Amino acid sequence: MQLIDGKAVAAHIKAEIAANVQQLVRDGGRPPCLAAVLVGHDGASETYVAGKVRTCAELGFRSSLIRFDSNVSESELLECIDRLNNDGGIDGFIVQLPLPKHISEAKILEAIDYRKDVDGFHPVNIGRMAAGLPCFLPATPAGVLELLTYYNIETSGKHCVVIGRSRIVGKPIAMLMMQKAYPGDCTVTVCHSRSNNLREMCLSADIIIVALGVPHFLKDDMVKPGAVVIDVGLTRLPSSVTATGYKLAGDVDFSRVAPLCSYITPVPGGVGPMTIVSLMKNTWKAAARTIYP
Ligand code: GUN
Repeated sequence: MQLIDGKAVAAHIKAEIAANVQQLVRDGGRPPCLAAVLVGHDGASETYVAGKVRTCAELGFRSSLIRFDSNVSESELLECIDRLNNDGGIDGFIVQLPLPKHISEAKILEAIDYRKDVDGFHPVNIGRMAAGLPCFLPATPAGVLELLTYYNIETSGKHCVVIGRSRIVGKPIAMLMMQKAYPGDCTVTVCHSRSNNLREMCLSADIIIVALGVPHFLKDDMVKPGAVVIDVGLTRLPSSVTATGYKLAGDVDFSRVAPLCSYITPVPGGVGPMTIVSLMKNTWKAAARTIYP
């Protein structure tokens, strides 16, 4: 069993991006600038956004964090998006999800200029991805592809089971794993909370990508020996032994499943660190377009 070390791969790619930023500046550009919009005070969202802002500083990007109370109106948020769309100093921006229930996520995401949509959530970017055209790929699926590539994991002709059908991970990763490319060329099955024969599907999978958000969901009796397991789950479980008061759990029952696998991602330290790196890559791309058309 080979552990996929997302932290090490992310460090390697971050060094490449930092070097690219220095080159961009030498070529007459300015450092990439990412803005993040954060609504409310959800603990996990605070942590993710803080990580994005910190990584910007690490790589020589500029960043801007725009905060709103959870009672912000949809129209106030739309005004903010309009300002960011028209701000020439900002190359890309994200609106951290989830948003409060009274705000339509679809409406907010559609209001973002797709050329600044470094999360890759705008319907134009999703459509271009589906068509195999250049676009901003969503960060987590892009991070999964980077890991498969880095470890040179064979995907062509393999049966890939994706568990989860979210707009952010399940749907796009399914599309990407079936694309005519490497990584890709898989026969893809998408399973979800309503699937009847999920265990049988998983047992026939060469590659399982779990993005359900249910801690320790994937058990050892669902995994074929030699399978590749990619765990996208990241749930905070209460813990009395950590300083933060929680510990992170993936969607895989890691200690039982890992011995069966050819490759597996741990949580934390697997897909998580790759997500931010992919966002930074997209932001660099957005900034570079002004200098390298
Ligand atoms: N919430 C969970 N993951 C993400 C992400 O990749 N981008 C944004 N904007 N919100 C998220």
